[in-house]
Amino acid sequence: MALPSKVRIVEVGPRDGLQNEPKSIPTATKIELIRRLAACGLRSIEATAFVSPRWVPQMKDAAKVLAALDRQAEVAYPVLTPNLKGFEDALAAGAREVAVFGAASETFSQKNINCSISEALQRFEPILEAAKAADVKVRGYVSCVLGCPYQGEVAPLAVAEVAHALFEMGCYEVSLGDTIGAGTPEKTKVMLEAVARRVPLKKLAGHFHDTWGMAIANIYAALEVGVSVFDSSIAGLGGCPYAPGAAGNVATEDVVWLLKGLGIDHGLDLNALVDTAAWISGELGREPASRVTRAILAKRAAAAC
Ligand code: HMG
Ligand code: MG
Repeated sequence: MALPSKVRIVEVGPRDGLQNEPKSIPTATKIELIRRLAACGLRSIEATAFVSPRWVPQMKDAAKVLAALDRQAEVAYPVLTPNLKGFEDALAAGAREVAVFGAASETFSQKNINCSISEALQRFEPILEAAKAADVKVRGYVSCVLGCPYQGEVAPLAVAEVAHALFEMGCYEVSLGDTIGAGTPEKTKVMLEAVARRVPLKKLAGHFHDTWGMAIANIYAALEVGVSVFDSSIAGLGGCPYAPGAAGNVATEDVVWLLKGLGIDHGLDLNALVDTAAWISGELGREPASRVTRAILAKRAAAAC
């Protein structure tokens, strides 16, 4: 199949990127990150999560983050909502798009949201109903699509089953998460082909963590299958508190570099992304994980000498 001519990137840095940071990050830093990401051209920025502060303390300021956002009309600011309480809190805080998150692995589902896969799907039904009534868009996630930190291998058909349930329920798009970043291109293709038999390809997104360094290769494989929406995180921030050892999401800058090389339209300003990656990495006291950002910063430093 010909590669898509255009790709949409969903930036998950402020949520997936920051949720596992051990040190409390000031709300103002989160808001400034979101502002800078919008200025890079991102049109979908996952802003925060309305989850239990006992489970994920870093997201406890979710309502404050949403309230203080300098919203741009053309930008969507989705937030995670695991249950009706999270949805109602998000709605009260002004959310116009939410995401429900299930898994293709029973053990991960229990560890992450304290219920089984089918209980999770039952919990999501009232969210979808309430969201429809409030004219709020709902995205769906399936975690552990290429492996589970507790159960190991995950069957592509199990992924397809959950993705199909989310789509049938009314999720406008289903993002397939390689939560532990253990996937390889061939496995990615087999999984996507199984899911695409149950959910239209145009309604699927890829969400790759980069633990084993395969995220960009997996995105290329997904592009070859026809997927044209990818989640990524500025500077490669991220990790899931319930996926021990999992590294960050694929870096937004690395995805943009890949797309640029392939001549695929992405609508983002790479230099502004690199500046933003350098800024947030400085705030967190570390080097950006993105190889592209490190290369561009080194080139800039050499040119300045
Ligand atoms: P629970 O303990 O089973 O909830 O947690 P509960 O319904 O029994 O309620 C217990 C207490 O939590 C009550 O408070 C509730 O009010 C409160 P208490 O009466 O004890 O004071 N509570 C809440 N508080 C705030 N927000 C809420 C909420 N719900 C209940 N929404 C729950 C169940 C789902 C809440 C919990 O397990 C949880 O918050 N899990 C979230 C875990 C999480 O955020 N994981 C990371 C995101 S997923 C991810 O990263 C993967 C992804 O990136 C894709 C990929 O990479 O694969 C999306
Ligand atoms: Mg993730």
